[in-house]
Order: sequence, then C-alpha cells, then structure tokens
Amino acid sequence: MKKVPVAMSNVTKVFGKGPEEVRAVDGFTHQFEAGRLTTLLGPSGCGKTTALRCLAGFYQPEEGNIMIDGKRVNEVPPNNRPTGTVFQSYALFPHMTVFQNVAYGLKIAKVPELEIKKKVAEGLELLQLTGMEDRSPDQLSGGQQQRVAIARVLVNEPEVLLFDEPLSNLDAKLRVYMRGEIRNLQERLGITTIYVTHDQEEAMSISDTMLVMNHGRIEQVGSPMDIYRKPATEFVAEFIGMTNFLQGVVKDVGHGSAGIYMYDTVVEVQTDAVRRIGEEVTIVARPEALRFSNGKASSIRGTIQHLFFLGSLARYEIAVGDGDTIILDDPNPEKLLSRGNTVHIEVVPHSVYLLDRGGFNTISD
Ligand SMILES: Nc1ncnc2c1ncn2[C@@H]1O[C@H](COP(=O)(O)OP(=O)(O)OP(=O)(O)O)[C@@H](O)[C@H]1O
Ligand SMILES: [Mg+2]
Repeated sequence: MKKVPVAMSNVTKVFGKGPEEVRAVDGFTHQFEAGRLTTLLGPSGCGKTTALRCLAGFYQPEEGNIMIDGKRVNEVPPNNRPTGTVFQSYALFPHMTVFQNVAYGLKIAKVPELEIKKKVAEGLELLQLTGMEDRSPDQLSGGQQQRVAIARVLVNEPEVLLFDEPLSNLDAKLRVYMRGEIRNLQERLGITTIYVTHDQEEAMSISDTMLVMNHGRIEQVGSPMDIYRKPATEFVAEFIGMTNFLQGVVKDVGHGSAGIYMYDTVVEVQTDAVRRIGEEVTIVARPEALRFSNGKASSIRGTIQHLFFLGSLARYEIAVGDGDTIILDDPNPEKLLSRGNTVHIEVVPHSVYLLDRGGFNTISD
C-alpha cells in the first residue's frame, strides 16, 4: 500500500458570523506521518470532527492548506479525494444486503461486475465477514455493522483512512476488541490513518501519534507515552487520566533531581530540567506515581478519606495540607487501609513531571 503523507497548515474553519462566530478549527497545523495512525483527541466541541471533515472535503476551510500526497486538495470535492471516511453512525443502507452495501462505491464508480465481486469478497474476508453477504444490516451485531462500514470504505482503496468516533455505539468490551482490530488492520495495510476520539484510553492504546486538541487548536503532539508522562499543559494533564497537581517551591537542586518544598516537607523529585531555587513548580503526579512510605522524613503526611478497591489496585483519596486531596493508587495491595488512617506519601522515582508555573521567582537566601 502506498504510504501517503497528509498535511494541514494553518487551517481555520469558522461557523456563524458576528457574535455567533465559532472558530471550530483555529490555525491547525500538523504533518501527519505517512503510513501511521494519528488520533485527534479532545473534549466535546474542541473541533475534532470539523478538522476531520476538512480533510475529507465535507467542509471548506476559510484559511489554510490541506495537502494530501503533496497536492493541495482544498477545492477537490470529497468523492475525488483519496480518502475514505468511517462515521460513528456506520451510515449503512438498511434496505441493502451486506454485499450491496460494500459494493456500493464500486458500482457508482462503474467498476465491472466481476471485479466488484472479487473486491467485495476480499474486503469481507479482511474484516472476517465472509458468509454474511446476504444479510441485511439489521441482522448484524453492532460490531459486525461497524466492520461492514470499514469494508465498504476499504474496497474503494483509499490512500488515507479517516475515522470519526467509530466505536462509540458499541459496548465497552466490543469497543476494546474492535479498536485492536482496527489497529491491526491499519498496521497490516500501512495506510495513513487519522482517527478521532474523545476516549483517552482508546487514543493511547492505538496511536503512533496523538494530537490533543482544545478550542480548535492543537495543545500537544506526542507519542502516547509522552502525552501521558509529560503533558505540556495542565489541560493535557487533566484531560489524559487522573492527575494530582502538587504545588511546591524548589528548595534545592541536585544532579538530575530537585527537592521540592510542599506540605511542610521536602519531596525529592527526579528531573532533568534545570531548576532554580525558589522557582514555583507544579508536580504532575499520576496516582501510580505516588506510594506509601513508612514515615520517612521526606514524605507527605495525610489522612485517608476514601478508599476504592478496584481489583488490581486500591485507589485512595488522601487529605493533605489545608484541605487538598491526593489520589494514590496502591497496585496489587496486600491489605487495605481504612478511612481515618494516617499515612505518609512519597514520590516513585522517575515517574513525575514538573510543570512550569509562571517565570522564575528566585528567593535569595
Ligand atoms: N455545522 C455547524 N454549524 C455551526 N457550528 C458548528 C457546526 N459544526 C460544529 N460546530 C461547532 O464547532 C465546534 C466544534 O465542533 P466539532 O463537531 O468539530 O467538535 P468535536 O470535537 O467533534 O466534538 P464531539 O466530541 O462532541 O463530537 C463546536 O463548538 C460546535 O458547536
Ligand atoms: Mg465530533
């Protein structure tokens, strides 16, 4: 399969006029890697669907360029773009059989009958739908319907695959299964794929690259690991999973580490970033980046407020300082602590990240 690069540069799509104006996509610039899967992730209304529709040609942006395989396609109508879109709603034709649904695009393109048969058979096999040719969509499960929708797009041999929340109508278990299937297929075909979702776990599990969007703009680009471990902004940190933001002041700076003063103690944190004494920082600590210590001097004292046993881990809400709460995950717990217990919390080495909070605010001592 040809690996086709896709680029959007400074793309802006505006809806409405005057006070009603919404900049749904605002100066969107990104080069999508050829042959890879990139997700657009972000909260409802952040512009994911609009960005995808600009790529597919359903919307004309007011500004910017959309390039597919090095060619500007802004003025090219959707049916003449080398893209194939899978929608959340599947959009299958209810009165047609599986075969007819998958064959539809080829028929429109006046592909000879024999070739249609061959291509549809291949498409159905790829999506494990062989034998279901004569069923109608209402005789299929949600997952099977979704696979028909994908097969219908693939038989047209698009060079770029676009998905808009393709799994949100499925139940949780099937969603996890189908996202694996989509990822396998994408890797096998090596097709440039852009996948819209608001589900951060889904995005992390299938992406080569993630774009986190907010208010029509890209907030951060990175691998799933980077986005999770090194969120560039509080928005990203907050959006991607459960996060503690611990405010502190740099007290001492060592080689690859710093002592951060917070909650009446100095917490040692591994960090490569050069830090100055007196700088105010926010430690971004995932619940699994904190653990109980046995009352060591450099640990934060707190009181257990709530406990949730989640099978593979126990999640604690711990009151610290003056009304703050820290979330801590204790993996594979041997025993559970109780509400009201006093605990000491330390940072798991190499697992937290420092966010800058304003400029340098050096205290001379
Ligand atoms: N056709 C339209 N006319 C007017 N405003 C629109 C239109 N389509 C989208 N918008 C607005 O543009 C913004 C972005 O919408 P978009 O559908 O791209 O968001 P989204 O990230 O896909 O959200 P969701 O996760 O809910 O699907 C929203 O404020 C929305 O109200
Ligand atoms: Mg959407």
